[in-house]
Amino acid sequence: HADGRLTGRHVLVTAGPTHEPLDPVRYIANRSSGKQGYAIARALARMGAKVTLVTGPTGLTPPAGVDTVKVETARQMLAACEAALPADCAVCCAAVADYRPQIETEHKIKKERGGLSTIALSENPDILRTLSNHETSRPKLVIGFAAETDDVIGHADAKRKRKGCDWIVANDVSPGTGTMGGDNNTVTILSEEGEEAWDNMPKAAVAGRLAEKIADALLGKK
Ligand code: C5P
Repeated sequence: HADGRLTGRHVLVTAGPTHEPLDPVRYIANRSSGKQGYAIARALARMGAKVTLVTGPTGLTPPAGVDTVKVETARQMLAACEAALPADCAVCCAAVADYRPQIETEHKIKKERGGLSTIALSENPDILRTLSNHETSRPKLVIGFAAETDDVIGHADAKRKRKGCDWIVANDVSPGTGTMGGDNNTVTILSEEGEEAWDNMPKAAVAGRLAEKIADALLGKK
């Protein structure tokens, strides 16, 4: 890939869930296998990009040729992303927990003492929004994901405008689609120019096609 289309470009990819600890044995998290994000990092690296993959805990092996930074919490993920800037493009695939427990205790919380009946939460930083609105180092192209279960396009387009990113990759994760944890995905890419619906295909194929589209956007069409 020494002479790939993305040689000399730096792309930041977030993937996986974040884990927000309550105590040494418990955490709050979103469901995410990390498969789509890892596949995107791999596809970009194959095209010659320097890729920084900032990943929450997953069972996956980091792709070869990618700088992988392992984190647990949303706050760590944001710090690792900011440390990786500047980047030409950011692809935010991670399923970041929106909230974290207000207190993380050093010792295991005892059920018998009623310590788990309520959990006070604080809002986590929004990494996609932060990168999209970055004052000094906004990546030229910022891409978010939207996993929705109903009115997929409507919610995803609202999300693109709210977050300030350039593209949203929307996918339907309702039970029965098999997307969650599965090897296939059906996505629609939403941008200022409109929407582009892709057929159901393996996550690796979504990644390859997205990497080509990223190269088109950064370099001008082939
Ligand atoms: O708002 P929602 O979480 O559904 O938006 C999904 C998009 O926002 C994904 O691209 C996800 O990676 C990103 N996100 C983020 N930081 C958060 C929450 C979501 O980067 N705290």
